Amino acid sequence: MRPEQLLVQEKAAYARVDPPCPYFGTCGGCTLQDLAYPDQLALKRDRIRRALAALGEAPPVELIGLEDPWRYRNKAEFTFGEWDGRLALGYHAARSFWRVVDLDDCLLLPEPVTRVLRDVRDAAVRTGLPPYHPRTHQGFFRYLLVRSSRATGRILVCLMTSPGSADGTAGNGAAVRAVVEGMAHDVVARHPAVESFYWGLTGRVADVAVPEQLILLEGAPHLEERLGPFRIKLHPLSFLQPTSVQADRLYTTVCGRLRPGADGVAWDLYCGLGLIAFYLASRVRKVYGIDGEPHHLELAALNASLNGVRNVEFRAGRVEALLLDRRFWLQEAKPDVVVVDPPRAGLHPRAIASILAARPAQIAYLSCNIQSLVRDLGALRTGFPRYRLAAVQAFDMFPQTNHLETFALLER
Ligand SMILES: C[S@@+](CC[C@H](N)C(=O)[O-])C[C@H]1O[C@@H](n2cnc3c(N)ncnc32)[C@H](O)[C@@H]1O
Repeated sequence: MRPEQLLVQEKAAYARVDPPCPYFGTCGGCTLQDLAYPDQLALKRDRIRRALAALGEAPPVELIGLEDPWRYRNKAEFTFGEWDGRLALGYHAARSFWRVVDLDDCLLLPEPVTRVLRDVRDAAVRTGLPPYHPRTHQGFFRYLLVRSSRATGRILVCLMTSPGSADGTAGNGAAVRAVVEGMAHDVVARHPAVESFYWGLTGRVADVAVPEQLILLEGAPHLEERLGPFRIKLHPLSFLQPTSVQADRLYTTVCGRLRPGADGVAWDLYCGLGLIAFYLASRVRKVYGIDGEPHHLELAALNASLNGVRNVEFRAGRVEALLLDRRFWLQEAKPDVVVVDPPRAGLHPRAIASILAARPAQIAYLSCNIQSLVRDLGALRTGFPRYRLAAVQAFDMFPQTNHLETFALLER
């Protein structure tokens, strides 16, 4: 069954409410907005229970909601496009790859962020340059990424465009740069909360908001957020859970369930900025963090020194490849506990084999995809049947939307 059909079936059990957002149905984002928040949580809890039934074990599932399920997101990624023949800036329309809903507000974002969105769109219109079209690959403006810090209220903006001169839409390189610098200057002048303005250039054909070149045009290179006791520097491309308050709860809960021992070793696999490693560091002798993106690890190292965390060692590379060095990982770095937080696709079979070879006492699995979570828990338990599912806890990082973040703990 397709995900949209499944969602219609799941929603049938609940009363509908009037969605407060005027873009509901047109915009592809918040598909659960027409359920009351307690019903959204019940639907998600049921979904986890049904998925876990495949494992033949059903520990109680706890789902922690958000006290205020609106204006919680710390990062937004908007796309430029056309709406009624005008330049538009917003989210992809429901069931469409090309159409972009022109937004004046988004109820998941803090209001200062949506004010920046409107001003960037107005500034883009004033330049007279066209939005990029993903079918023709012509046009200039591509994406706008806006991060905001819950702790400081400060904002980081990254405007992404095509290189400009390559497709003839914006003249030569110097002219293009002057246009974007003018926009950056205007936005910073109008919004004192904007700490940094980046320009990202991308000639990629794929519709992904990851620039090949990043230029800091105004302000500081990093935005500072606080998670629990930690000060965290962020970059436009850093991975951070979308709801800072829930991220702190998730990491506190995960680390609270782990018992590595003061002389123990922990692995933080798919560590991103190393946040889980930081939460674990005070309770172990050493944490090893692995991530495939060197730019995450550069910031992880900076954040470790900013927070006085000294017993964490980061390694750049793919988990499934790095862990093949069994002499190191099964001797010097042999873990008492392992935390994994992979992308949607879940764990590579070689990563599963290496974790099983290390045979940690506990494996904490954080997942944004319940299907791959259940598949991988099944593979880990098949590989070593004495692992039992000791706890499942989910955190609603994404109220109003269909997404879910789940933590499962295996113990032997
Ligand atoms: C869901 S994020 C988790 C980040 C981090 N644990 C956190 O809580 O902020 C997944 C991370 O896996 C990394 N990644 C994806 N595939 C990988 C692979 N095969 N090996 C190592 N890291 C990978 C990405 O760069 C990303 O930082």
